[in-house]
Amino acid sequence: MSCQPKKIIIAIDGYSACGKSTFAREIAARLGYIFIDTGAMYRAVTLYGLRHGAIRDDRVDETALVALLPEVNITFAFNPDRGASDVILNGENVETQIRSLEVSDYVSRVSQIAAVRQKLVDMQQRMGEQKGVVMDGRDIGTVVFPNAELKIFMTADPEVRAQRRYAELKAKGQQPSLEEIAANLRERDYADEHRAISPLRQAPDARVLDNSRMSVAQQMDWVMDLIEKLCR
Ligand code: DC
Repeated sequence: MSCQPKKIIIAIDGYSACGKSTFAREIAARLGYIFIDTGAMYRAVTLYGLRHGAIRDDRVDETALVALLPEVNITFAFNPDRGASDVILNGENVETQIRSLEVSDYVSRVSQIAAVRQKLVDMQQRMGEQKGVVMDGRDIGTVVFPNAELKIFMTADPEVRAQRRYAELKAKGQQPSLEEIAANLRERDYADEHRAISPLRQAPDARVLDNSRMSVAQQMDWVMDLIEKLCR
């Protein structure tokens, strides 16, 4: 960056598997900001519910899960191998476990629960108090940081997104099915857009980024140009 802007909050929202986290991580690395993947926080709560019997047999027991919430402590620890932070659930690094299809299958239902959202949004707002953060999720520009200096809404063709998630899981040594991934993404898009609390919405002042046919380098040029203008 040719100019040093005052520290700002960059809010990135959009559909599942649009490359939000890759993009957010890269922006944070360039600016020396903290990157927070809020989807990972909803996934960690889901994993905890699965491990403690509040989620089983295709059912999320909302009362049981809410009762478990005070026991859930989520932090992040920088992993130099990935150049990003891993999610730590009650002291255990669960970065791999939270990406499983089982967690993906339940996480939208968990993220509809008001008490879950309240706990995680409070944590996210505290993490952004000092600014200098890039946060990605579904409600960052609308609910968590409605006054964020830069809001980006990401989208991409559904087939492109399914292929990307497929490649990501394969690279992690999993054996994914493209059809299952595509179905999971369709369900999550629907659930994210139609839930009663904090549904996925484009903030009126968000810039839209459709990256279906863009490389990460092209996306970075686009966003760095915006950031540069913001700090002029
Ligand atoms: O970004 P992701 O796919 O890891 O997110 C997992 C789920 O969490 C997603 O289906 C929607 C939910 N989520 C949310 O409701 N609000 C956020 N800020 C982030 C994620």
